[in-house]
Amino acid sequence: MALPFGCSDRSGESPRLKRAGHAIVLALGGLLLSSFGAAAQGPSAAVLTNTCFSCHGTDGHSAGAMPSIAGKDYDYVVTALLEFKSGAREATVMDRITKGFSDEEIEALARYFSSQ
Ligand code: HEC
Repeated sequence: MALPFGCSDRSGESPRLKRAGHAIVLALGGLLLSSFGAAAQGPSAAVLTNTCFSCHGTDGHSAGAMPSIAGKDYDYVVTALLEFKSGAREATVMDRITKGFSDEEIEALARYFSSQ
């Protein structure tokens, strides 16, 4: 049955609208691809380490009472953070901070600070 107002005829849709639709699909595709790319590289140290700088100094070079963590051995930092997280190592704040990180993120943090 044909509808009286041409509602079943979609060919009247403007070509500009169609192009805009394609652009949006492409943009979304690109977004998905780039977020997969980021996941493949693991957590970004640049984002994770910002949290640490306020206490341990820029790049982990502390000028104050906080321990410097820059240049510490990778294994030392991973072990320290995992122990803070599990509660095996006593802490005032690091226990709470490390609870927010996955093991993979802790490894990324240790890689970053041990290379400073
Ligand atoms: C609120 C301040 C604060 C922030 C933020 C902070 N820390 Fe700490 N950190 C401390 C304190 C204080 C200690 C000493 C242990 C304790 O009392 O919790 C410590 C100890 C450490 C140690 C052990 C150092 C040693 O010499 O054994 C490591 C490693 C460490 N922090 C890494 C980090 C990393 C990585 C981050 C960022 C994810 C971070 N900290 C964020 C305050 C902070």
